[in-house]
Amino acid sequence: MLNEKTIAIIKSTVPVLEKHGKDITSHFYQRMFSNHPELLNIFNHANQRQGRQQTALANAVYAAAANIDNLGAIIPVVKQIGQKHRALGILPEHYPIVGENLLGAIKEVLGDAATDEIIDAWAEAYGVIADAFIGVEAEMYKEAKEQEGGWEGFRSFVVSNKVEESNVITSFYLKPEDGKAIASYQPGQYLTVKVQPEGDNYTHIRHYSLSDAPGKEYYRISVKREDKGVVSNYLHQSLQEGDKILVSAPAGDFVLEQKDTPAILISGGVGLTPMVSMVKTIVEQQPERGVTFIHGALNSTVHALKEEITQLANENKNVNSFVAYSEPTAEDRGAKNYDKEGFIDLAWLKSIVPSNQADFYFCGPLPFMQVVYRALKEWGVPAENIHFEFFGPASQLEEPVSTSVSK
Ligand SMILES: Cc1cc2nc3c(=O)[nH]c(=O)nc-3n(C[C@H](O)[C@H](O)[C@H](O)COP(=O)(O)OP(=O)(O)OC[C@H]3O[C@@H](n4cnc5c(N)ncnc54)[C@H](O)[C@@H]3O)c2cc1C
Ligand code: HEM
Repeated sequence: MLNEKTIAIIKSTVPVLEKHGKDITSHFYQRMFSNHPELLNIFNHANQRQGRQQTALANAVYAAAANIDNLGAIIPVVKQIGQKHRALGILPEHYPIVGENLLGAIKEVLGDAATDEIIDAWAEAYGVIADAFIGVEAEMYKEAKEQEGGWEGFRSFVVSNKVEESNVITSFYLKPEDGKAIASYQPGQYLTVKVQPEGDNYTHIRHYSLSDAPGKEYYRISVKREDKGVVSNYLHQSLQEGDKILVSAPAGDFVLEQKDTPAILISGGVGLTPMVSMVKTIVEQQPERGVTFIHGALNSTVHALKEEITQLANENKNVNSFVAYSEPTAEDRGAKNYDKEGFIDLAWLKSIVPSNQADFYFCGPLPFMQVVYRALKEWGVPAENIHFEFFGPASQLEEPVSTSVSK
């Protein structure tokens, strides 16, 4: 354990580092990638460009340091990050690389203000934090491998079926190349794929929520083609039925809780994927449980898996489904194939959801999530009944709301 003096130094310097947070972390990444270019096979290049990952990792290190005398308090966060690290294949030997380059960056950005005493204290603290991550992740690697149908690292899968679900979303059905069993998962969890498009010098790793109920002989993911997106365009354009793809075992702590309370599943755009898995699982495993599936999309041209959900709602009396289109097409208006024009808001939620005594799950673009989160808070939904997933690095939900919502 750290001594009191070290702890005092760490706690008093956290605010200084936070103040220089962006400078230190962007310098850290440049430094690390120039010393270890092989890590560009693991880190998301777009996140680097947009500074999103910088903020996420830096904030996590500072949050951990601020709790250095009580790391137990941040174990839930460590577990959440650990799920992603395990799925990405981050190993104990990677930690000293991050530590060395983070300390080097602190020294170089702060200059003389970073005395040897401060740097030594941070080196010690980083070691303690890294050990906490390594310990949590070791358990996760073990579980992923030892579970029935589980495996270590990345396993080769074959695309058994590729189905266009909308103008922008395509589903991929994946079966293991070795023909053996595959691990089950909890609805809400994701698969992590590793690809290397032809002519690209690097591998690229991305997470995709499983979009079907568990217990099948395949995994299904449903992917939105993103403008200039490396992996989504590769999947849409290059990966065909019969092709192989590397996949790590299902991960994630955004999961449907097996309770009796009604489940309210709210999604924007491609954020519907974990919700589809959840509603299908409820139908199979808890046919008495009330579930309301609420989806916001631009219009029917980009509305994926619509027939699947409509059919579920038609065939199961415990399932209700509602759709909001922000920009319905002329055909949509003619067919009246949506329940609300515009964005999902609290007034509408209150009109279609019987009570706030329910478990709410939501996922979608960040501005959409901010709106939904704010609405649920305003409605008085207790924090423990609010569950969400980010399709990118975790962000703040309590920021000012901007106007653009879901696609
Ligand atoms: C837990 C989790 C679950 C997820 N589930 C799903 C899912 O079910 N379905 C799904 O579709 N996605 C899902 N995602 C998102 C997915 O992981 C990818 O982030 C997404 O597919 C984009 O990856 P990409 O490689 O195509 O884009 P990236 O290459 O990562 O680029 C992302 C964005 O950055 C911008 N960008 C990139 N390069 C440039 C450039 N040169 N100039 C300007 N802008 C640029 C573009 O706007 C681009 O759209 C999930 C993410 C997480 C974390
Ligand atoms: C104690 C040290 C570390 C901390 C506190 C930390 C923290 C984080 C956080 C907060 C995220 C974002 C999670 C999210 O998506 O919400 C993240 C993601 C990630 N981490 Fe770590 N991390 C640490 C060590 C490492 C190491 C050693 C590596 C590998 C060299 C690594 C590689 C990654 C990668 C590749 C991602 C995914 C994001 C992306 O590709 O942009 N991390 N980490």
